[in-house]
Amino acid sequence: MKPLCLDILKLGNPRLRSQALPLDMPLNQAQHRLIEQLIDRMQASNGVGIAAPQVGIPWQIIIVASRPTLRYPQAPRMEPIAMINPQILEDGGEQIQDWEGCLSVPNMRGLVTRAQHVTVRYHDLAAGCQCERFSGFIARIIQHEYDHLQGRLFVDRVKQSADLITEDEYQKLLIS
Ligand code: NI
Repeated sequence: MKPLCLDILKLGNPRLRSQALPLDMPLNQAQHRLIEQLIDRMQASNGVGIAAPQVGIPWQIIIVASRPTLRYPQAPRMEPIAMINPQILEDGGEQIQDWEGCLSVPNMRGLVTRAQHVTVRYHDLAAGCQCERFSGFIARIIQHEYDHLQGRLFVDRVKQSADLITEDEYQKLLIS
């Protein structure tokens, strides 16, 4: 495994609370390298998404990388997508409540309501402008990561404190 040079900031760090800045396109070599490192960092932590502010980089970059997990056996497996300067143009469908976790909020899960569908416009790595619609688990990841760019965390979105539980208790729910 490659050495991990990016540290994940944790809940309470003020840099997780700032608004991320848009990037000029095309990206330079250092920015491409950063995105590779973000993907490595996410995969090493078994995450399904990560946002640049989580490693202290105040730029509008998110990585979306759904794959089947214990909780979401039907989640689609996809190549990680880097979305630069993403904008959620539309969200719709049902409002769906489900458990979320975050690399910046270790050992916690929260019940969060998200839109079933999102349409997101973003720049890809080749500086092309993409506009795509996503549903279900991938739409949830996008909404979670997009929140990081606004300085928001999933704990801000739980309706009540009783909807926050530890990872241990969450694992018990899965097998019950
Ligand atoms: Ni997160």
